[in-house]
Amino acid sequence: MSLIMAPPLPLVFLLIIHGVFSDCDDCGGSVSYSPSHICALKDSTVIMNCTYKYPTRHQIRKVFWTKTLAKDNDELPDLSEDPEYSQRLQYLGDKQQNCTVRLSHVTLKDSHEYYFRFISNKDKWTGTSGVTLNVTDLQVESPERVTEGDSVRLTCKSSCTLTDRATFIWSRNSQPLTERRDRNNELLLQSVRREDAGRYSCAVHGHHHISPDVHLNVMYPPRSVSVLMSGSGVIVEGDSVTLSCSSDSNPPALNFSWFKENETSAVGSGQSFSALQSGRFYCQAHNQHGSQRSDAVTVTVHHGAGRNVIVITAASGGLFFIIFIIIILFIIQRKMMTRRSAIHEYENDEPRAGTYTALELKSRSPDLYDTLTTVHPRPAVLQSGSSEYENP
Ligand SMILES: *[C@@H]1O[C@H](CO)[C@@H](O)[C@H](O)[C@H]1NC(C)=O
Ligand SMILES: *[C@@H]1O[C@H](CO)[C@@H](O)[C@H](O)[C@H]1NC(C)=O
Ligand SMILES: *[C@@H]1O[C@H](CO)[C@@H](O)[C@H](O)[C@H]1NC(C)=O
Ligand SMILES: *[C@@H]1O[C@H](CO)[C@@H](O)[C@H](O)[C@H]1NC(C)=O
Ligand SMILES: *[C@@H]1O[C@H](CO)[C@@H](O)[C@H](O)[C@H]1NC(C)=O
Repeated sequence: MSLIMAPPLPLVFLLIIHGVFSDCDDCGGSVSYSPSHICALKDSTVIMNCTYKYPTRHQIRKVFWTKTLAKDNDELPDLSEDPEYSQRLQYLGDKQQNCTVRLSHVTLKDSHEYYFRFISNKDKWTGTSGVTLNVTDLQVESPERVTEGDSVRLTCKSSCTLTDRATFIWSRNSQPLTERRDRNNELLLQSVRREDAGRYSCAVHGHHHISPDVHLNVMYPPRSVSVLMSGSGVIVEGDSVTLSCSSDSNPPALNFSWFKENETSAVGSGQSFSALQSGRFYCQAHNQHGSQRSDAVTVTVHHGAGRNVIVITAASGGLFFIIFIIIILFIIQRKMMTRRSAIHEYENDEPRAGTYTALELKSRSPDLYDTLTTVHPRPAVLQSGSSEYENP
C-alpha cells in the first residue's frame, strides 16, 4: 500500500552504491503509463495510471515514484519523502504489476514528468520515459470593452486541453449563469446588453478551482436623460433658473446641448444651463456611442411685476412660509420699538432699566412682556421693586 514497504534502506543503498546489478532497461522489465500525458486542473486530484512488468525470477524490493531521471549510481529521490509531496501522494499500486499513484491538491508547480522506479532483488529499473503532468488554472479571455449590441465571446482558457468530459460553468458577479453557453469552454453573448456588464469567472463542474474575475465593460449611448430644475421654474424678469442635465451612459456623457422647444439651433451647452426667458427647454446628452434628448421643462418669466410676484406665484407651501416670516418680522419689529421706548423712558434710572432688561431676557413669555409694557405708563408700580416682575 505504501512506499514504506521498501526493503531495508542499508540494503538498497549497498546495491546502488556498488552497482552490483546492471540497469534493468534491457532485462525484460517495463513500465507503462496510461495515459502518458495528463492535463489536470489546479487543486484537483490526479491519478497517474501505471503498470509494470519484470521477469518472474525477480523479487521486488522497493517501488517508488520520482521526478528525477536516473544518473548512474545515484540514489533517486523518493517523492514520498519529499516534504512538497509526502502529504499529497498516495501509492495505489502493489508489488506485482500495478504502480498507480494518486497526487491530490495539485499546484501549477507540480507540472513535471514523473517516473516510476522499482528495485528487485536482482536489478533496478531506470527507464527514461515517464508520465507528463501538466497542471493548469483557468483564465477568462474576454474583450475588455464592448458596445451594446455587439456579439461577445468569452473563453475559459486553460494551458493544456482538459478532457472532453469537462463541463464548464460560468458566473457573472458570482451568480451562476445558466443560459447561452456556446461551445464547451465558450460563453456567447449574442447581442450584449448593458445588464451583461459585470465580473465573469469560469470553473469546471466537479472542481473547486475558479478562474479570477474578468470585468466586462459594456458601453452604451445616453439613456434616461432628464432635466433637473432649481426651484419651480417660475421666476421674475431679470432672474434666471438653473437647469441641469442628467443621463445614464457609459462612458459618462460629457457633451450636452440645450434647446428651446421648436427652435432648431442649440441655445446652450454644458451640463447646466441658465434659462432667462420663458419657454420649454430640453437637453441632449452625447457620448461617442450616441445621444438622447430629455423631455422639456417649462420656465415662466413674469414681467415687471416686482418682488411681490415671487410671493404670489410661489408654491402654496412657500407662500405660507413667507407669510409666517413676515408675521414674525412684524412682531419682532414691534417688540424692538416698544423695548426701545421703554429703555428710553427709564434710562435715567440705571438699576431699574437693568432689572427690566434682565427680566425680558429671562422669560420670552408674551404675557410677561405685555405686563411689562402695560406697566411702564405707571412708574409708581415699578418703583416698588423688582419682585413684582418676577411673579407677575
Ligand atoms: C487506468 O488504466 C486502465 C487500463 O488501461 C484503464 O481502464 C483506466 O480507465 C485507467 N484509469 C485512468 C484514471 O486513466
Ligand atoms: C491499479 O490500482 C488502482 C487502485 O486500486 C485501480 O484503480 C486500477 O484500475 C489498477 N490498474 C490496473 C491496470 O489494474
Ligand atoms: C504543458 O502543456 C503545454 C502546452 O501543451 C506545454 O507547452 C508545456 O510544456 C507543458 N508543460 C509540461 C511541464 O509538460
Ligand atoms: C458634442 O456633440 C455634438 C453633436 O454630436 C457635436 O457636434 C459636437 O462637436 C460635440 N462636442 C464635443 C466637445 O465633443
Ligand atoms: C411646438 O410645436 C408643437 C407642434 O408643432 C406644438 O404642439 C407645441 O405647442 C409647440 N411648443 C411651443 C412651446 O411652441
